[in-house]
Amino acid sequence: MTEPMHARDRVPVSGVKRIGVLTGGGDCPGLNAVIRAVTKDALFHGMEVIGIEDGFAGLIEDRVHPLDRKAVGNILTRGGTILGSSNKANPQKYAVGTDDEGKPVYRDMVDVCMTTLELHRIEALVVIGGDGTMSAAKPFADRGINCIGVPKTIDNDLVGTDLTFGFSTAVANATDALDKVHTTAASHHRAIVVEVMGRNAGWLALHSGIASGSDVILLPEIPFDIEDVCHTVETRAQRKHGFTIVCCSEGAKPKGGKQIVDRVIESSPDPVRLGGVGKFVADQIEEKTGIESRAVVLGHVQRGGVPVAADRVLATQFGHAAMKLLRMGIKNRLVVMRNGLLDHVEITSAADKQRLIEPDNDPLVEAARSVYTCFGDWKTKIV
Ligand code: F6P
Repeated sequence: MTEPMHARDRVPVSGVKRIGVLTGGGDCPGLNAVIRAVTKDALFHGMEVIGIEDGFAGLIEDRVHPLDRKAVGNILTRGGTILGSSNKANPQKYAVGTDDEGKPVYRDMVDVCMTTLELHRIEALVVIGGDGTMSAAKPFADRGINCIGVPKTIDNDLVGTDLTFGFSTAVANATDALDKVHTTAASHHRAIVVEVMGRNAGWLALHSGIASGSDVILLPEIPFDIEDVCHTVETRAQRKHGFTIVCCSEGAKPKGGKQIVDRVIESSPDPVRLGGVGKFVADQIEEKTGIESRAVVLGHVQRGGVPVAADRVLATQFGHAAMKLLRMGIKNRLVVMRNGLLDHVEITSAADKQRLIEPDNDPLVEAARSVYTCFGDWKTKIV
């Protein structure tokens, strides 16, 4: 940290007059709250703000528009992003069509983006996104455009920050769904497997699994033995009105097995989309125990709706911190939250890495085991 992030500084020492703001990657609750915070802070300090539409696609295709107080009015509580987003618009590898064999043809569009920036006199960028978006900002930083990153993802797997905005809302949404499936599971004495998002990180499953009192939590970081899962289901079924709720991360995999891939999106910086393990687990439980089982895939429900208060607060703090760095002329940083304090790291330091759970060292895993949560690794004793 160069200077405490909470210190008041209203002098735009960087001399920047006009900034661009964009949201890249998948949508996430709290994006609008950041756009609002960035725009209001910039306007307050006498800067102009240009909203770039659909992530870097807006720069490639010259789709931008000014943001004023009115444009960001009443958006704090709105999910999604008023600017639109794209997880395919990588300026260094942008799909411009297909070849004779139908394969995508890619072009480097960084110079095209630079022309758009010059045309609209955009001197600095606030890029709100995940590691793919931060990597995509690198060529602009290299060409002298100050790029300040704000970390978003419901997966909470960005290296360097303890928390990303959007995560708390996704946890609340998943918990709500897990709470609700208790009704049918209990009434019909079934096992219900709820597949939650998170890619290769189990944070969303771990938090929502604990919050909902799920009996089994399956994480990408702990390959599961289906026999242990079935043992838990059978043990619980012996109780009066017995039932089991399994909170299963989309990235969970059986011991010695592989993650289940739903689709591959070649033009995306993170091409693999996981999905299907919930059904696999439910089918295995039914086949091995004879207990009726169902799978529920939550999907994009987890990213939808109104951001919870914690995400609105974090997004506002991040937006202000990004603007503060920009105004102070501090270059190419990613705003982060560590041990409850705002900080900043090099913008691409989170690229191509993921912050994963360390199962043997994680206090939440330990706490979950203490309430008899099964992780499919025979390490929790069910009674
Ligand atoms: O990274 C956020 C996330 O929602 C993941 O949890 C999930 O695997 C993926 O994005 C889904 O991507 P898409 O919206 O492209 O289906």
